[in-house]
Amino acid sequence: MNTRHVIELSPSGKTFETGDELLLDAMLASGLAVPFSCRRGACGSCKVVVAAGEYRAKRLAPDAPAPCYPLAANEMLLCQSHACTDMRLEIPGWSLDTPALVVGAQVIGKRALGPDVIELMLKPDTPLKVRAGQYLKFHLADGDTRCFSVANLPTEEEGRLVFQIRRVRGGYFSEGVLDGLAVGARMQLEGPFGACTWQDDDAAPVVLFATGTGYAGIKPILLTALKRNVEVTLYWGGAQSTDFYDGAFLDESMLEHPRFRWHSVRSSEGRVQEVALSHGHHWEATQVYACGNGPMLSQVRAHCVEAGLPSHRFVAEAFVASGRSSAQAVSLSFDPIWEKVGPRYSLDGMLAAREKSIRALAAIASRLTVGMTTGEALEMAAQQLTAMGASHTWHPTYIRFGPDTIRPSREGVDRQRKLRASDIVVVDLGPVWDGYEGDYGDTFIFGELPLHLACRTALHEVFDETRQAWLRGLTGRELYDFAEQSAVSKGWRLARNLAGHRLADFPHALFESKELADLEIPPSEMAWVLEIQLCHPTEPVGGFFEDMLMLQA
Ligand SMILES: Cc1cc2nc3c(=O)[nH]c(=O)nc-3n(C[C@H](O)[C@H](O)[C@H](O)COP(=O)(O)OP(=O)(O)OC[C@H]3O[C@@H](n4cnc5c(N)ncnc54)[C@H](O)[C@@H]3O)c2cc1C
Ligand code: FES
Repeated sequence: MNTRHVIELSPSGKTFETGDELLLDAMLASGLAVPFSCRRGACGSCKVVVAAGEYRAKRLAPDAPAPCYPLAANEMLLCQSHACTDMRLEIPGWSLDTPALVVGAQVIGKRALGPDVIELMLKPDTPLKVRAGQYLKFHLADGDTRCFSVANLPTEEEGRLVFQIRRVRGGYFSEGVLDGLAVGARMQLEGPFGACTWQDDDAAPVVLFATGTGYAGIKPILLTALKRNVEVTLYWGGAQSTDFYDGAFLDESMLEHPRFRWHSVRSSEGRVQEVALSHGHHWEATQVYACGNGPMLSQVRAHCVEAGLPSHRFVAEAFVASGRSSAQAVSLSFDPIWEKVGPRYSLDGMLAAREKSIRALAAIASRLTVGMTTGEALEMAAQQLTAMGASHTWHPTYIRFGPDTIRPSREGVDRQRKLRASDIVVVDLGPVWDGYEGDYGDTFIFGELPLHLACRTALHEVFDETRQAWLRGLTGRELYDFAEQSAVSKGWRLARNLAGHRLADFPHALFESKELADLEIPPSEMAWVLEIQLCHPTEPVGGFFEDMLMLQA
């Protein structure tokens, strides 16, 4: 008889029933939202904490690899387990109620902060989980949207959202709609989005740059730094004294927090980066955040990196025109069969996940040291991803040294293999950020062995040429045939088992998990990852690079 067991999920109290089937299948069949991906015990997405009850492990086929995801004594993988009794489970970092992408909100306050800056206060119908530094999209009656940063820490203010909005000459929202918004008016908000968020590194001194209402994006990061007693300096650029509309708060905060300094920088007197550089920060160890106009961001980045700032420690948001008519607008249309996405899919979410993955990869690469074992590197990477806010890894993190770089991704590696002074290293990440799947991988060279350098060069050439071929309208299958020829022409072999895949709001595994190399239609942008793994025909040297297929890479 197939005994049924009731599985309760804490703290929601929601339940589902299961019999002999895998817990993952039972939970999916119940219609509850489930975090999962690989179904083979490798990625850890379906990890739960067992609060009560008994279970047994899935019986494996004789030739099947054992699940390799490391678990604590009270943890279990839904995809590898059957219930033996009723159970109570907790799913860390996961909400059973997928937050809606668009929520209603009510205007609860509006006041002028200066001659052309308005503060708008909104109360959303359901509280939003906003990270310090993120923004929301305001839906407008004509179907368009505008982006505005959340200028407070909503969790500390009963969910209230504060915005600081500059009047833009001829602005449809800031000079039109905004004037008509009275207390009690209703709005629709989408998000939150954005990768310019607090990096959770309390040890690094923080330098903040803002121009104009760029301060709105920076203020929550400042508030977080103050709360955590991190050393923090703000450089705020503006044209006139009224542009520093939060000066009184900043002056008070300096008195209260001895580790905080702020400097107003009038454009007639200089640039924010010039003043900051003259103050002699220890750039090698600093974390920089910047919000404001594009030229300021490029100059701050260039100057700070030149002064020693590691590039992945520069985190920024450009406050550009954000309506649909702006140059960056992308219109997405997906194939209904092969390119399905979930209810929270959004271009902004996918772009932020990509940006965070690129930054995480750089941070992890910067922490690889000669003599480290693969096992130690994987542990370091897991800590880094957690510290940066990844809730899950939708595929396992792969780190491969030397001869392991030619192995297929699913094949195990020697965890004791040490990184040598002259070596080639592959790092491949699949983190989930705010419900969006990121995926980014690259190859790093230690020392200057010509074969290693040649591998990296060929790898990026093959990727770039294949991406160009995608722009010409090739199907997924044709892309990999093209990549194979491109690799051979450079004296390398394309590992065809790494064949590209979907990416979406997590988990894309709910939909068809077709490989890009099997796709008979031209893949759409922002839905697929192009993976290229090259191997030397005779030497144990390989390289790997991947990125999302997108028009403006
Ligand atoms: C992620 C993000 C967060 C943002 N956060 C804030 C914020 O917290 N506070 C804030 O005041 N602004 C913010 N902005 C900028 C804001 O979204 C735009 O200025 C927006 O287009 C203003 O809408 P509007 O309808 O008033 O003007 P629009 O009708 O969009 O624009 C009117 C005209 O002005 C030009 N224009 C508009 N904005 C800009 C700009 N920033 N730079 C140069 N030209 C522009 C347009 O190209 C157009 O010609 C943010 C932008 C982004 C991308
Ligand atoms: S470990 Fe269960 S889905 Fe990956």
